[in-house]
Amino acid sequence: MTTRQTAGLGHMIGGKVAPAAVVIFGASGDLTHRKILPAFYHLQKNGHLPEGMAIVGFARRDQSEPQFREGLRQALEDHSHTHPIDNAVWASLEPHIYYQKGDLANPEDYVRLAERLRTLPEAAAFGRNHLYYLATAPNFFPIVAENLGKAGLDAREGTGGYRRLIVEKPFGTDLPSARALNQILHQYFPEPCIFRIDHYLGKENVQNLLYFRFANSIFEPLWDRRYIDHVQITVAETQTIGTRGAYYETAGASRDMLQNHLMQLFTLIAMEPPASLEAESIRDEKVKVLRSVPTPTPEEVLRNSVRAQYGPGILNGKTVRPYREEDRVSRRSLVETYVCLRLEVDNWRWSGVPFYLRTGKALGHQYTEICIVFHRAPCVLFAHNLKRIARNWLKIRIQPIEGIHMIFNTKVPGQPAIEEARMDFYYRRQDHYFPEAYERLLLDALNGESTLFTRSDEVEQAWRIIDAVQAAWREEDLDRLPLYAPGSMGPVEAEELLRREGRRWGDPPCEQEEELRE
Ligand code: BG6
Repeated sequence: MTTRQTAGLGHMIGGKVAPAAVVIFGASGDLTHRKILPAFYHLQKNGHLPEGMAIVGFARRDQSEPQFREGLRQALEDHSHTHPIDNAVWASLEPHIYYQKGDLANPEDYVRLAERLRTLPEAAAFGRNHLYYLATAPNFFPIVAENLGKAGLDAREGTGGYRRLIVEKPFGTDLPSARALNQILHQYFPEPCIFRIDHYLGKENVQNLLYFRFANSIFEPLWDRRYIDHVQITVAETQTIGTRGAYYETAGASRDMLQNHLMQLFTLIAMEPPASLEAESIRDEKVKVLRSVPTPTPEEVLRNSVRAQYGPGILNGKTVRPYREEDRVSRRSLVETYVCLRLEVDNWRWSGVPFYLRTGKALGHQYTEICIVFHRAPCVLFAHNLKRIARNWLKIRIQPIEGIHMIFNTKVPGQPAIEEARMDFYYRRQDHYFPEAYERLLLDALNGESTLFTRSDEVEQAWRIIDAVQAAWREEDLDRLPLYAPGSMGPVEAEELLRREGRRWGDPPCEQEEELRE
C-alpha cells in the first residue's frame, strides 16, 4: 500500500467540474482530432465531466453536425491512447457535441455563435461558463479574441460564471509580438482568464518534478552549485518535419521547442521552493529563474549555442531527405532543426553551473530527459586504479518510459576496481491510470486552475533569451548550417561544446529498457 497525500499542484484528477460550454475554434483541424477530442472522451470515461456540458466545434468547413461527430468518432479510433473505444462512453458524449459553421474573421458569425450557445439544450446548466479553445493558426488568436469581445462573449463584464480562453502555442514569434498579443488578449480577457498551453506541463513526470524535489528531503539539499556540476535537458525526436514545412520554416527548433517546452523544464528544475503550491507562487518562482538568466551577448551566443539541420540519410531503415528538400521548405533554408544552448543562471544557487539544453528532429532516439550531473568525488583514494572517477548522474526521464534513474559508483565484486551501477524507478504502474497531458490541462482549465499554464511574464522572459540567440545568429550571416545525419544524436559541434568543458552528453536510453522494466 502506498500512502497518498493530495497537494495543491493543480486539481487532482478526480472530482467533477462545473458544467461549461467548450467552444473549439479551428475545430476541423488536426489538434482537435488528435488531442482535444480524445482528451474529452477520456475525461468523460473517467467520470470527470458533469451533466450539462456542451462541446461546440467552430470552423469554416461546410459540414453537418452528424458529419462533424462522425469525424470525431473516427479521430478517437485513430488517436485515443486507450483501446477499444467504449461505445457507451461515446454515446454519452456524442449528443452534447455540436458544430457551428463560421468564419473566424467574420464578427457576425460570433453573434450567431452567441445565439447558438444561448439556445443549446445544456444552456440552463452551463449558464455563463464558457471555455474557448483557440486551436487555430496563431495569426487568428487576436482576431478571435476581438470578435468574441464584439459579440459580448468575452470576460469583461457580467457576473456569475466565467469566460476563459485556452491559447495554443506558439505564443508570438519573438518578444515584441508576444507582448503585442498579450496586450490584445488582455483587452478582452484578464490574465487569470487566459490559459496558455505548454503541453509539456501536463505530462505526469513533469508535474512530478516538483513533488520529487520538494516532497523529499534527500535531493533538495544537494540541488545547487556545491554539489551539481551541470544539468542537461534533452528533447530528442526521431520524426522529421514531414508535412509541417510551412510552419517550421517560420519557427525552427528554437521557437518550436526551446522557447517553450525546454524552458519550462529548465525553470522547474532550477526554481526555488515556492511559498505554496498555488499557481501564482509557483509561477513567480519560475519567472525568477528566467530573470536570473542574463541576456547573452552575440559573442556568448555564438560560443554557447549550436544550430544545425538534418541532411540526407537513413533513419530507422528509411531514407530521409534533407530538411532543405522537405515540402514547403526553402532550398536555401537556414532554419535549424537542431539547437543546443548553454545557459547560466546568475543566482546564489546556480552561479557557475551550466545548463545545456538540446532538441532536434530526425535524431536516432525519441526521448525527453533531464540529467543532473554531480561533481566528481575526490579521487585520491582510488587513484591507483582509475584516472578519474565517473560523476554521479540523476536522470529524470520524462518520456517515453517515465522514470528516475540514479547512476553511481560501486566496487567490482572480487576486484579492487570501480564500475557504474544504476538504481531504476519506473513511474508507470499497472494500477494507475496515466492521463494524457491534454486531459489534465483541459480539466485544470475547466477548474480555473492555472499552475500548469504559462503566465504572460514567463512567456516574455523566455522570448527575451531566445530573441538574443536569434539576433546573434542573424548577424552570423551563414549561407548554410552545419548538417547532421538523420539517426545520429545531432551535430559534432554539440558534442564539442561539452567536450571542451570536460563534459559529455548522457547516453540515450538503451534499447532493452522495456525489458529491464519487467
Ligand atoms: C510540439 C512541437 O509543441 O511538441 C512539435 O510543435 C513536437 O514539433 C511536439 O514534435 C513534441 O511533443 P511530444 O509531446 O510528442 O514530445
